[in-house]
Amino acid sequence: MPDTITITDDRTGKSLTVPIERGTFPSSALRELDPSLFLYDPAFMSTASCASAITLVDGDNGILRYRGYPIEQLAESSSYLEVAYLLIHGELPSQEQYDRWVHDVTVHTYVHEKIKQFIDGFHYDAHPMGVLVGTVGALSTFYPEAKEIFDPDCRMKQVVRLIAKMPTLAAFAHRYSVGQPFVYPNNDLDYTTNFLSMMYQVVEPQYAENPVLARALDILFILHADHEQNCSTTAMRTIGSSQADPYSATAGAAAALYGPLHGGANEAVIHMLKRIGSVDQVPAFVEAVKRGEGRLMGFGHRVYKSYDPRARIVKATADRVFEITGSNPLLDIALELESVALNDDYFIGRKLYPNVDFYSGLIYQAMGFPMEMFTVLFAIPRTAGWLAHWLELLADNEQRIARPRQKYIGPDEREYVELPKRETGAS
Ligand code: ACO
Repeated sequence: MPDTITITDDRTGKSLTVPIERGTFPSSALRELDPSLFLYDPAFMSTASCASAITLVDGDNGILRYRGYPIEQLAESSSYLEVAYLLIHGELPSQEQYDRWVHDVTVHTYVHEKIKQFIDGFHYDAHPMGVLVGTVGALSTFYPEAKEIFDPDCRMKQVVRLIAKMPTLAAFAHRYSVGQPFVYPNNDLDYTTNFLSMMYQVVEPQYAENPVLARALDILFILHADHEQNCSTTAMRTIGSSQADPYSATAGAAAALYGPLHGGANEAVIHMLKRIGSVDQVPAFVEAVKRGEGRLMGFGHRVYKSYDPRARIVKATADRVFEITGSNPLLDIALELESVALNDDYFIGRKLYPNVDFYSGLIYQAMGFPMEMFTVLFAIPRTAGWLAHWLELLADNEQRIARPRQKYIGPDEREYVELPKRETGAS
């Protein structure tokens, strides 16, 4: 069977045969048939917008790999910073490279003192995700050299800064929202423990670390580090394609992550579980979802249609966390919800399974994170993925400024009518 596709324009009878490579064919073939012909593909349901060597998501078989390494092996044996190196550089680091990388990230965790001042300008109940989006974008004004995006050394410096400073900005956003003084980074601690220390240190001279909880958070960071062309990564690439600096692009990506259908889903899961209230209310809730009255948050995925491999790891991580923190009372409702949904034809028929967010919120809650921080906890590790895609984009000769086309469905040309002569129309 030839690996080609033949497209015929029935209006003209013209035909064109193009190669199929890795499940894609160049859409430019259509324009060879007719320069004014475009694919209509809302939400990119059938469009590959780039070639990428970073992450493989095989939705039919529930496979996720970073640079070829299965997510299960990375979650078992690696650390978040090692995974960040892998995503950015394409290979796992040697010991020497790893030590250098950890050192570089660690010495960039501090943020400019002025950042504290403008965080002070936010309203007292500002959502920490809004604070994060604002402050990470503002970093571009502190590092004007970041505009030199075609200078490899300068580029890598911003990458290190962003990975290093996201936990600091995130923790500052939280401390501000609860009215507590900012805690500076402690560079004797590892990446996740340092973040937990900036979040939670209150009265004790130093944060009392718990290695099991820090490791659980590190695993969640690994699971969230990248997921190929999702909504926020696509935003990062789109903004990056205009050659904006990486801080501005990261702010845009973080804004895309904020929405409840993307990074906001784990927060939405907890709201949903609270609304359900008790295990005996689960069947009624599921029936309401089936009638179209809302969605089962934390279920379904655009790409995974068998299961989300991250969800399995999160569930196992939840067990280890709950051994330390005691069970989250909402867990029983979540387990019942999962069991009812997985045995219901509505969800089976639509291939809806728990995604990474179904259980992650329960872990975060058990670890003491307020719900408003959940999306922030997603943004911290995803920064490595966004930056890996940004670097790949800049090196890709096939990329231009992102500029999709549209199918115009508005009115044909019509005459302008002077204001006094206009009648009130339907608005
Ligand atoms: N609960 C109930 N029904 C659902 C759900 C859900 N969570 N998700 C999809 N469906 C139904 C839709 O109503 C639709 O049914 P229909 O064919 O009868 O109209 C069908 O399944 C297909 O749904 P789409 O919206 O077309 O699926 P899409 O791929 O566009 O959406 C998404 C994927 C946004 C993740 C969706 O499943 C959803 O809203 N899930 C809940 C939010 C969530 O958990 N998001 C986190 C995603 S993971 C992440 O971002 C890290």
